[in-house]
Formats: sequence, structure tokens, C-alpha cells
Amino acid sequence: MDLKEYLNEKRIIVDEALNRFLPVTIGPAHELYNAMRYSLFAGGKRIRPILCIASAEAVGGTSDDVMPVACAFEMIHTYSLIHDDLPAMDDDELRRGKPTNHMVYGEAIAILAGDGLLTEAFRVMASPELITRAGAKRFRRVLEVVASAAGAGGMVLGQALDIRAEGKKIETSHMKIIHEHKTGALLRASVAAGAILGRGTDEQIDQIDKYGKYIGLAFQISDDILDIEGSTEELGKQTGVDAERGKNTYPSNYGMENAKTMLKEITANAVEAISGFDTKADILRQIAFYIMERKK
Ligand code: IPE
Ligand code: IPE
Ligand code: MG
Ligand code: MG
Ligand code: MG
Repeated sequence: MDLKEYLNEKRIIVDEALNRFLPVTIGPAHELYNAMRYSLFAGGKRIRPILCIASAEAVGGTSDDVMPVACAFEMIHTYSLIHDDLPAMDDDELRRGKPTNHMVYGEAIAILAGDGLLTEAFRVMASPELITRAGAKRFRRVLEVVASAAGAGGMVLGQALDIRAEGKKIETSHMKIIHEHKTGALLRASVAAGAILGRGTDEQIDQIDKYGKYIGLAFQISDDILDIEGSTEELGKQTGVDAERGKNTYPSNYGMENAKTMLKEITANAVEAISGFDTKADILRQIAFYIMERKK
């Protein structure tokens, strides 16, 4: 199947599910839910839930095996973006082509909208159908994968290290750790969770996890490159801000050409990690190249 078609098709079913999991709310909760939905439906690529589905399919599962977890990843990711954009962090005014959450709702509600999305993600995962389908062992394992990737040993840690490294010259090994945590962890967990819920063997889960580690790092390297070479219009966020904020990025620390070479190598490593898979993993292979070549 053509990748573009696949991404479109899956984006639609993910959006439908997200809408069901986080419906419009009236009454006293209206403003908070509106703020959560504002960022959630502002037009993200949905790459994490799509990866979760594609990974389940690569081991013979289906989107029905993973949908609540796939959506949980998008909710956690969206919360991370709302908080990432706050004045205390990257202080950005544009996200997904719209004013950032705090520009519209104010900082207090933006913080709470992020908190709400993170917590609701775990409520969504506590789906009785999911637990019945996956079985207690797989469900527990997935919960741990999601929480570890999102939390203080994963994305949150990466964000803390990223902020502390602003304006400092750091070791390149430390920059890799930042990237693997702030962005890599959730992407890696998306595919790992998909492989677990799709009933992959331990060997398959390990190989997909390795693939996830590579594409997670590749995704942030390409994000760093796009901050310099991409267009605000296509990305839906301000470009050129990393240098302004003294962020440690692959192009700033290695030079643009080296960053691109490394991105290519890491993409090749990702594809190599799943070389033992049959054609059911072709979409995962194509997504690795898509991440390398993306313009948004
Ligand atoms: C942007 O993520 C922030 C990073 C983790 C690099 P995406 O590029 O996936 O953003 P959306 O979800 O499509 O808006
Ligand atoms: C974000 O990294 C990682 C997150 C956990 C949100 P960036 O700060 O580079 O992401 P953008 O460029 O603002 O999307
Ligand atoms: Mg940031
Ligand atoms: Mg940012
Ligand atoms: Mg960035």
C-alpha cells in the first residue's frame, strides 16, 4: 500500500477514536476540555498512534488490538507539546499552525490542559475491552512501557535535561541522551506497545523496540534540521528558534551535512533492525524513510 494513503487512512480512524475518548463537554468542565481538545485536534501528524498500529500489524495484529493505547500516545504527546511551548520552557507562540495553548487559554489552563491529557490517557487505556483482548500480562507490560516512556525516566527527563543544557556546550553523547529521551522515548514505546499488543514474539518485540530506538532519535534529528531548513507554514511552528534559545541540536553540534549523514545512517539502522520481518513490516520500513525525508 502507498504510504501516503496508509497515513491518511489511519489518521482518520485515530481522529475518530480520539473524538470518542475525549468528547466535547458542556457545563463547568467546558473550558478545560475545550483547551485539551484545542491542541489535540489542531492538526498533528498522528505519527505515534500510526506507528503503534503499524507495529501491531507487522506482527500480525490489527488496529483494534491497540486503539486505546495508540490514542493514549497521542494524548501524552499533545500534553508534552503544550508544556514544551510554555513561557517557562521553549516559549513558543505557534503550534500545529495555530496559536499555542497558553496564548489562547492562558498559562494556568494550558498547564492544566496538559495535566488533563496526560491523566486521561491512562483512563483511556483502562479500557475493559483492551484488557480482555490483551490479557493481564500484556496489559501490565504495556502500562509499564507507556508510563516509563512518558515519565521521569523518559520524555520528562529528556525535557528537563534539554532545558538545563540550554546555552551550554555539552558532550555530544549527552545530546544523544537528551534526544533519545525527550522525543525518542515516546516513539520507541509506541512501536514496542504495538508489538506487544499485536501478540508479537519476544524476539519480534525486541527487534521492533530496536527499530523504535533508531527512529525515535532520527525523528528529533530531523526536527532539529527542519528548525533550520523547514518552513513555518508547512511545519505549523516557528522555525529558527533553536539557535535563538541556545538549544543543543545535531546541526548546531555536528554541522548540517554531518547531521544529515547521521540521520541517514540511523535510518538504515532502523530498517536493518527489522530485516527479519516479512512484508507486513513494509509500512514500518517506509515510515523510517518518511521520518528521514519529511518536510513537516
Ligand atoms: C513535534 O512532534 C515535537 C517533537 C517531539 C519533535 P511532531 O512533529 O510529531 O508534531 P505533530 O504531532 O505532528 O504536531
Ligand atoms: C520537543 O522537542 C520534545 C517534546 C517532548 C515536546 P522540541 O522542543 O524540539 O519540539 P518542537 O520543535 O518545539 O516541536
Ligand atoms: Mg523543547
Ligand atoms: Mg519546543
Ligand atoms: Mg524542535
